Amino acid sequence: MNKVPVIAIDGPSGSGKGTIASRIAETLGFSLLDSGALYRVLGIACHRHNTALSDSSAVASLARNLDIQFGLSGEGSVSLDGEDVSLAIRTDLGSDMASKVGAIEAAREALFQRQLDFRVAPGLVADGRDMGTTVFPDAALKIFLTASLEARAERRYKQLIAKGIDAILPALLRDLKERDRRDSERTVSPLKPAEDAIVIDTTDLTIETVVKKVLECYSAA
Ligand code: C5P
Repeated sequence: MNKVPVIAIDGPSGSGKGTIASRIAETLGFSLLDSGALYRVLGIACHRHNTALSDSSAVASLARNLDIQFGLSGEGSVSLDGEDVSLAIRTDLGSDMASKVGAIEAAREALFQRQLDFRVAPGLVADGRDMGTTVFPDAALKIFLTASLEARAERRYKQLIAKGIDAILPALLRDLKERDRRDSERTVSPLKPAEDAIVIDTTDLTIETVVKKVLECYSAA
């Protein structure tokens, strides 16, 4: 049995998972797994290699052989085959491709072990859609963050603009809705809270408040 503690933080896009997860990891000195980035890199790799998403074994094989590195060109950066793809994976194309490859069971299986490998002492904060349900069902603490669609779209908009990426709010709203639908309705590891998850609606909460709540939950766990 793996005794390294895991804090699983799941939720839809724009619920605050990424920011909250990295603050918690920093505070506790834990490693961080941004599982969405793995799906995003796989999506971009499929696009670049012209891999048909209907060919699930080709997508899975690509997933198994991906050369992904985190932090190679600075904190929070993501590289594919040595090239910095931190911005490319955050574009609309990156988001769309990620949720499409995320619906492919063989791709999820291929990325499974890579995610487990992030579990190293003294602990791990893992953010995604199925951290508490599928990848780390024995997590010490499972948090499921939600927020209204409008609040999430607005946050995404601000994030993209801050990164210098063009964004149009109504288009973001529409895309988020479509991704929510795809993530929640897929048959493999759909987006849903684990039965033992603590659900926090972040619509009207500041990042600091949510971080505090999660840390309190962890101390009490
Ligand atoms: O979290 P992020 O928005 O970066 O995730 C991008 C996409 O990757 C999600 O919309 C989802 O389809 C997919 N994903 C997933 N399982 C995860 C993390 C992300 O299917 N654990």
